[in-house]
Amino acid sequence: MKIGILGYGSVGQKLAALFADAGYDVMVGLRSGADSSIGFATGSFKEVATQVDAIALAIPYQASLAVLQTLAADLAGKIIIDNTNPLNDDWSPLLLGQENSAGETIQNALPQSHVIKAFNTIFADVMQKSAHMRNGSLITAFVAGNDAAAKARVLKLVGDIGFAPLDTGDITSARYLEAMAHLNIRIAVPLGGGTNAAFVYHQQQS
Ligand SMILES: NC(=O)c1ccc[n+]([C@@H]2O[C@H](COP(=O)([O-])OP(=O)(O)OC[C@H]3O[C@@H](n4cnc5c(N)ncnc54)[C@H](OP(=O)(O)O)[C@@H]3O)[C@@H](O)[C@H]2O)c1
Repeated sequence: MKIGILGYGSVGQKLAALFADAGYDVMVGLRSGADSSIGFATGSFKEVATQVDAIALAIPYQASLAVLQTLAADLAGKIIIDNTNPLNDDWSPLLLGQENSAGETIQNALPQSHVIKAFNTIFADVMQKSAHMRNGSLITAFVAGNDAAAKARVLKLVGDIGFAPLDTGDITSARYLEAMAHLNIRIAVPLGGGTNAAFVYHQQQS
């Protein structure tokens, strides 16, 4: 699977490295266009969207709708891995309503694409193999989306790069996953806990 990553900040850089290490073909999209100093194939968002099977959103939620609207035709039938969290500029929660979420808003805006929420509860600082094991358990990567086949591909991808994947249902679960991220940020930043922290979901198998 060829994966495009839109954005090359904290999350984009980490995911690009993890995907490439796991053998995926990676292309990075930059709003400034191609950049030969980056160790991956690069291009504009449009060039990436036309050339890949799936994209991972590593740009601010507040920018993502405007960006994606311009790519809707290129992304029809493809997977959009939504890492975003709805945040204000000071990282406080941008509340979208009890029955809404960034994931659902993006899915509604691009109905021809398969939006799969993933990675939004994982800090960029722990998106590296050396940080994935937490006291004997892998970090949980919560995944949500409507299309079963697309979600299965993302669950496999998540496992391939070293997280413990967990299917959390359809895209409405993005409401809860985004709230988890808000809590994660609150503990890490205003409460001072730091970003070397992660959720591990332990499910007893009977
Ligand atoms: N950081 C985390 O721990 C973390 C964890 C989970 C999820 N997330 C989510 O992942 C996404 C990326 O976060 P990040 O921490 O990687 O952010 P970041 O380090 O600030 O990088 C943001 C990226 O988005 C691009 N960008 C910024 N504004 C844009 C706009 N208006 N239009 C197009 N591109 C724009 C930036 O491009 P330039 O370089 O050109 O400015 C940069 O490549 C966010 O949605 C965030 O909520 C973050």
